[in-house]
Amino acid sequence: DTGPIANIGIVTVSDRASRGEYEDRGGPAIVDYLQQVLSSEYREVLRVIPDESTTIEQTLRTLCDEQNCCLVITTGGTGPAVRDITPEATEAVCDKMMPGFGELMRKVSLEKVPTAILSRQTAGIRGRSLIVNLPGQPKAIAECLDAVFPAIPYCIDLLG
Ligand code: MTE
Repeated sequence: DTGPIANIGIVTVSDRASRGEYEDRGGPAIVDYLQQVLSSEYREVLRVIPDESTTIEQTLRTLCDEQNCCLVITTGGTGPAVRDITPEATEAVCDKMMPGFGELMRKVSLEKVPTAILSRQTAGIRGRSLIVNLPGQPKAIAECLDAVFPAIPYCIDLLG
């Protein structure tokens, strides 16, 4: 039971956004998406952090264990570049991986952009929290969440 008001973590993983070199557009795009699809009451916990494994892992642990987020959505850092390590940091903090989320998001994304093959996005369970990675492109957020969102409340229920 997540209580009457669920907490949802939203984490933008980007060196440049975290330094203020450009505006974070991914986090707000996730906020907009949730507003459109969720009817129940929830509280968002937003973070903008650099592509550093210790920071990503620490942020995910805090959102899951201390902020009691039943769902944590990350955006960015899923590609092949040296600094792209969000999937590894996700795996490091998860008890089990949920590879179907990444598989389905890549499949639907490939119908829109051939570069979807470059995202290593995944998902996993930490305690009673579901962590889902999205690519950093703001337009990827709705493209990916449309595909997997129907499974998310059910998955969280099963973590009960
Ligand atoms: N998926 C969707 N749905 N839409 C996109 O525009 N961009 C791709 C891919 N997945 C994209 C997408 C690109 S260009 C890259 S490099 C990878 O996601 C990784 O992006 P990231 O490193 O910002 O997470």
